[in-house]
Formats: sequence, C-alpha cells, structure tokens
Amino acid sequence: MAAIKATTALSLIVVALLINAAAAATYTNHTVGGDAGWFFNSATNQTSADYNAWAANRTFSLGDYLIFNTNTNQTVIQTYNKTTYDSCITDDSLDTDTFQYDGGSNHFGDADIVSVPLTLEGTQYYFSDADDGEQCQHGMAFQINVTHGVGLPPSLNQPPPPPYAPPPGAADEGQSPPITVATSSPNGGKRNSGASLGWLGLVVFLVSLSFLH
Ligand SMILES: *[C@@H]1O[C@H](CO)[C@@H](O)[C@H](O)[C@H]1NC(C)=O
Ligand SMILES: *[C@@H]1O[C@H](CO)[C@@H](O)[C@H](O)[C@H]1NC(C)=O
Ligand SMILES: *[C@@H]1O[C@H](CO)[C@@H](O)[C@H](O)[C@H]1NC(C)=O
Ligand SMILES: *[C@@H]1O[C@H](CO)[C@@H](O)[C@H](O)[C@H]1NC(C)=O
Ligand SMILES: *[C@@H]1O[C@H](CO)[C@@H](O)[C@H](O)[C@H]1NC(C)=O
Ligand SMILES: *[C@@H]1O[C@H](CO)[C@@H](O)[C@H](O)[C@H]1NC(C)=O
Repeated sequence: MAAIKATTALSLIVVALLINAAAAATYTNHTVGGDAGWFFNSATNQTSADYNAWAANRTFSLGDYLIFNTNTNQTVIQTYNKTTYDSCITDDSLDTDTFQYDGGSNHFGDADIVSVPLTLEGTQYYFSDADDGEQCQHGMAFQINVTHGVGLPPSLNQPPPPPYAPPPGAADEGQSPPITVATSSPNGGKRNSGASLGWLGLVVFLVSLSFLH
C-alpha cells in the first residue's frame, strides 16, 4: 500500500513538473528593437531601430515581458492613454494610466535593463520622454496590442489569487484518497502521506487552472 502511494505521489510530481515547464515555455520575453536595443542618438536624431516595425511582427500576450536594453539617456514610459502617447511628454499624464519604469540607476548614460511585464490586455503605448519629448518625436515610441494568450501566470496575477479552496474533483470522483483534515493523528505515518498527496493534488489542480484562463 505504501509503495503504491509512493508511486502515485511520484507520478503526480512528474505531472506537476511537466505542466510547470509547459506553462513557463508559453511566455515570451521580447527584447525591444532586437539586438539594436532602445537607444537614441541625439547627435543625429536617430533611433537605433524602427520600433513600430519591430512590434508589428510580434504577438504580445499577458505574462510576456518587454525587455528594454538601454541606458539612462532614454526613459521607458508605458501608457494606456493615446493622448499622452501622442504628446510625447508626461507633464499632464495621469498616475492611473501612465507609468515610468527604470532600471535603478540615476547616473546619466549608465547601462540599464528595464523589464516590463504585460499585465493588461489591449492596446498600450511605450515611449521615451527624454529631451522634453524630442526622442519620442523622432521615433522613440511604439504601440502594441496585448492578447490574452494563456493568461497571467500566478506570479503576475493582480489581485492575488483567491485563498485555498478544496479541490472539487478529489472527493466527487473518488479517485484520489480523501484529504485528511483531522487535527489529531490516530495512525501518524499514514496521515502524513495522505496529506502530502492532497497537497500535490492541489498543486496540479492550481497549475491546470492557470491553463484555463
Ligand atoms: C523574462 O524576464 C523576466 C524579468 O526580467 C525574468 O524574470 C524571466 O526569468 C525572463 N524569462 C525568460 C524565459 O528569460
Ligand atoms: C534634431 O531635431 C531637433 C528638433 O526636434 C532639431 O532642433 C535639431 O536640429 C535636430 N538635430 C539634427 C542633428 O538633425
Ligand atoms: C515581418 O514579417 C514579414 C514576413 O515574415 C517580413 O517580410 C518582414 O520583413 C518583417 N518585417 C519586419 C520589420 O521584420
Ligand atoms: C489621457 O490623459 C490626458 C492627459 O494627458 C487626460 O486629460 C485624459 O483625461 C486622459 N484620458 C483618459 C481616457 O483617461
Ligand atoms: C548620453 O547623453 C549625453 C548627453 O547628450 C551624451 O554626452 C552621452 O554620450 C550619452 N551617452 C550614451 C551612452 O549615449
Ligand atoms: C487586439 O487583439 C485582439 C485579439 O487578437 C483583437 O480582437 C483586437 O481587435 C486588437 N485590437 C487592436 C486595437 O488592434
């Protein structure tokens, strides 16, 4: 009996790991501008890439990241407001729809990697508001359309996922051993393995839930 339970537990672990690996592979990190990165040359007024052309060939989904390889001469502004985007500056922008991301450095010209998670579906805009909007006016700007894809991973889910709920399948289908909730332990070792099976079942259940979103 113990051997059978151990085998079941092992296969549940394998299933959970496989599902996790598959889920991780479904999210993409998009390096903005490809190898050219996110740079503006103020001596020539030129961007290092054509960002709207770069974005046009890609599919962006919830849970993906935009990775800006840049330095602190450029900024990374995200907005959901087309008026703000078209203006190229953030002076009148609202805190609720416009966000500045930074890589943590305050020194002009320092190398910077800025990671922006995509957490809302629909059209959103990016630009650099540096040099009073001049960079943006010369092409440091692009828009993307974020699709649902497989939905947000739990790590980016906002608000946080609801608290623990018993897995519905376990009791009805009678395939998994019942989850022991007793606080006293009449036969210690047995209860332990039952509890860990229940936990693994929950993991598999939550992981498969994330596929349904
Ligand atoms: C994507 O970028 C995020 C944020 O920098 C990072 O946590 C994650 O590991 C990256 N994923 C891959 C597959 O590179
Ligand atoms: C860059 O553009 C600004 C206007 O945005 C202009 O004043 C400046 O002369 C331009 N510089 C070059 C090198 O073209
Ligand atoms: C977008 O993809 C098409 C077809 O794959 C290709 O011809 C075009 O050059 C690509 N454009 C960019 C900007 O990469
Ligand atoms: C967009 O931002 C402008 C300020 O740049 C603000 O006046 C306007 O109300 C915002 N639009 C929406 C739909 O929030
Ligand atoms: C950043 O901008 C300053 C001022 O325009 C310029 O002197 C410097 O070369 C730039 N640094 C980089 C790495 O582009
Ligand atoms: C964004 O993508 C969704 C799904 O593909 C589509 O229904 C929607 O029309 C697109 N929105 C824009 C503004 O392109």
